[in-house]
Amino acid sequence: MEYSVRSKSIIDSYPVDNFLPDIGIDKVREELTDGLTSSPKFIPSKYFYDKKGSLLFEEITELDEYYPTRTEKSILADFLPLLNLNFTDLSIIELGSGDPSKISLLFEQISPSKLNQIVYYPVDISQSAIESSISLLTQKYDGRNINGIIADFIHQVELLPKVNNKLICFFGSTIGNLKRNEIQIFMKKLGAVMQKGDNLLLGIDMIKDVKILENAYNDSQGVTASFNKNILNVVNKLLGTNFNPSKFEHLAFYNNQEQRIEMHLKAKENLQIEVSSSNVELQIKQGEMIHTENSHKFNSKDIQQFAYWGGLNMENVFNDENNWFILVHYRK
Ligand code: AVJ
Repeated sequence: MEYSVRSKSIIDSYPVDNFLPDIGIDKVREELTDGLTSSPKFIPSKYFYDKKGSLLFEEITELDEYYPTRTEKSILADFLPLLNLNFTDLSIIELGSGDPSKISLLFEQISPSKLNQIVYYPVDISQSAIESSISLLTQKYDGRNINGIIADFIHQVELLPKVNNKLICFFGSTIGNLKRNEIQIFMKKLGAVMQKGDNLLLGIDMIKDVKILENAYNDSQGVTASFNKNILNVVNKLLGTNFNPSKFEHLAFYNNQEQRIEMHLKAKENLQIEVSSSNVELQIKQGEMIHTENSHKFNSKDIQQFAYWGGLNMENVFNDENNWFILVHYRK
């Protein structure tokens, strides 16, 4: 692949392409500084996922209150034959591959001889997520067919491998982190890297009872609160700030107008934050909120809109018995 920096991962013999240097620390610092000097303040949610953040998210997916992962997996368990894929030289590209158990559920439905003909590309912004997914999967499957990609897959869509016969998987309703206009751009770019006959499998969290939604982001063990606060540790590392996460309170609520869960960090007192990389000082007032995540919820009209934006056909929709979560199969 051109333009890529080939770096050997901890797991020596498996290729990992790292596209993040294309973005660079200066750009990252600019993005973070922009967010923290805006009004209201915000931190892009892709910064949740350092090593600790990835582990905390994994813990979230096992919580009783957090229904999406469990529900999506129950749908994934037995539906692969319904996709009518051509397995000869199939490339499976998984965006946001932090949790290898989902793709494993698909692999388990493929016979070993067909599995040999597949190349799997896990794509994630977190290097640790890619490494752990490779080390887990190679215990069970032939590692020759795995090629990790470290990238900001929302903004670097055009760097996805230009291979024939693709199945792109985007699980977990991570698309819900994007606003409508961002989804439009993303779907357009994704549609452009797909060729006629290529497939997209998109996990979507549906609009439902507000209580169920809010509980999923306010778990009784406080794991989501730790996950939310940890983003400040990530910012400290990248930007050289001295945020003390314990000076903030975790807030998560449903915004009915925007049809999304919002997560914020609310300052418990007036704070002065130093930015060592730029000699800037940030003033944060008691009660001021830093917006850390949007998690949009969708309906059936939305998923038709996505097809239109991507120039794709909606082949099928697979849902659980409550219609809490769906997997949409699009084909170009
Ligand atoms: C990984 C973005 C799908 O929005 O539900 C979980 C992240 N944030 N709990 C979501 C998350 C708080 C998750 N996504």
